[in-house]
Amino acid sequence: MSSTVEQIKEKLDAVEVIGSYVKLEKAGSSFKAKCPFHNERTPSFFVSPSRGTYYCFGCGAKGDIFTFVQEFERTDFPGALRLLGERAGVPIEWERREERGERERLHQALEAAARFFEEKLTERREAKDYLASRGVREATVRSWRLGWAPNEWRELKEHLGGVRGFSEAELVSAGLIKKGEAAATSYDLFRGRIIFPIFDSAGRVIGFSGRTLLEREGVPKYLNTPDTAVFHKGETLYGLHRAKSAIRLKDYAILVEGQMDLLACHQAGFENAVATSGTAFTETHVRRLQRISNKMITGYDADSAGFTAAKRSAELALSLGMEVKIAALPRGSDPAELIQTNESLWKKCLKSSKHLIEFYLDHLLETVTDSRRLGREIEAKILPYVALLPSSVEQSHFVALISKKAGIREEALWNDLKRVPAPQLSGTYNAGGTTILGQEEEKRKTPVERRIIGIVFWQEGLAEPVVDTHEIRTALVGLAGEPHVKELFSALLPEKDTLIFEAEAYYENEIKLKREVDELFIHFEEDLLREQFVRAMNELERAEGAKNENQARELLSRCQSISVRLAELSKKKLNETAEVH
Ligand code: UTP
Ligand code: MN
Repeated sequence: MSSTVEQIKEKLDAVEVIGSYVKLEKAGSSFKAKCPFHNERTPSFFVSPSRGTYYCFGCGAKGDIFTFVQEFERTDFPGALRLLGERAGVPIEWERREERGERERLHQALEAAARFFEEKLTERREAKDYLASRGVREATVRSWRLGWAPNEWRELKEHLGGVRGFSEAELVSAGLIKKGEAAATSYDLFRGRIIFPIFDSAGRVIGFSGRTLLEREGVPKYLNTPDTAVFHKGETLYGLHRAKSAIRLKDYAILVEGQMDLLACHQAGFENAVATSGTAFTETHVRRLQRISNKMITGYDADSAGFTAAKRSAELALSLGMEVKIAALPRGSDPAELIQTNESLWKKCLKSSKHLIEFYLDHLLETVTDSRRLGREIEAKILPYVALLPSSVEQSHFVALISKKAGIREEALWNDLKRVPAPQLSGTYNAGGTTILGQEEEKRKTPVERRIIGIVFWQEGLAEPVVDTHEIRTALVGLAGEPHVKELFSALLPEKDTLIFEAEAYYENEIKLKREVDELFIHFEEDLLREQFVRAMNELERAEGAKNENQARELLSRCQSISVRLAELSKKKLNETAEVH
């Protein structure tokens, strides 16, 4: 296995891999970006091309392309291996793995089930016709691996349990079968349903959603895999594995509710669509999208349930700092149907998608006709959101808009605005995105010795160092003494990775690096001398108080020579800067 990992690492460039997820900018010999693993405004996430690693000064995230993909895609090691292996064109021999964890076993059961369902669909005319009637093309059926679960109690269980050798317990924990009342009466969860496999971001099947063909009372239209060791409803977005690159490219995601909506979107070329499919939109969902783009448009059903869901999702995303718009679909339609019947209207809906505030406003204007009630509703339901807007420019924009659309004087709106309470949101609203700038800046301020030692750590790790690290160590000892230098190095050892990254990030080229080292040494010596000077002055005061004249004279001359040296250093500093500019 390790040789596979090595091979992949050799073939892939960390900057390219990581750069396909986040926007990297050159910074010295490294690349930097806003960290995808925590919310920040100024970039503190660095990638080192030469070492193939990344490090975030803000949150401490670090590792190589494998840990990056695991973290970013929220997958496990085999998942990352599969993704990167594919990218590198390195075949991965799963069979060589001796140790198969429980999760791996579940993945295999789920994959086998997906194949079983796919196979069954080819034999089932009725199901194929149904999909065709909903406008799902054959190519879509194949690429999204749609299937059919036979309307039998134990066909899947027998298929997977028989030749395939999956135990009942395994199938239960994969969420494929359900335990019955008595022993050995477990039965297939999905029966007589069109099957939509749900994938993780590495493209592995982790669960299913099944739609009944006969909509009947008391029978749920869709049935989903329960949460299992590999499937977490609140974290999974249907279609994300295929939508990622389009979301990145277009720099926004389209959020729809159902599988059918999603398939229709992708089929029509809206490949940046993802679906929540049967669960509420969660903070984890937002975070996953946010890593790819900070913008989204919700395209929910134009009924009251859809309205509530769109509102809820938009508020949540907004509260987490996303830019959110809501596409208002014609009453009674959903994206799937709209795309099928009137694709250009769907496009228009996306194009004219509105900010949450305008969306609410229009909804109120449509539903409330009494003008006094309208005023009250606006104050109660809309102004709180206006109050939350980060800038007064934006506030004025919406005040003007409300005034125009609802016919209320701007002045009155501004007055009301002053006393509205903040709305109750599902998350904490955060106008400008979370930032702990103070803390970040604090961390970035690197004392001189940290910087010198960082350079030493960094250069010592290179095959062809640019500066002589031995010389630097000797010079440090010469100035500060062996014990002090030893202590410094051992105190900073736990931060070695951080320091190396800092060093790489700050220093651009050889000449600059050498100069930088010289300059750092001046500062280092200065700091030492100042400390010594203060100490000597204190001692001098004490010696004078004790009328110890000899000692006082000696200390005075020490102070004098320290200030002479300090003067020399500051002259040197002036020359150095003159040379650089
Ligand atoms: P909808 O009821 O809007 O379904 O539920 P739909 O997408 O229009 O379905 P079609 O077009 O009739 O096939 C939206 C989504 O909510 C989930 C499903 O993921 C569905 O796609 N859902 C719906 C369930 O999980 N269970 C249900 O009983 C119904
Ligand atoms: Mn629908």
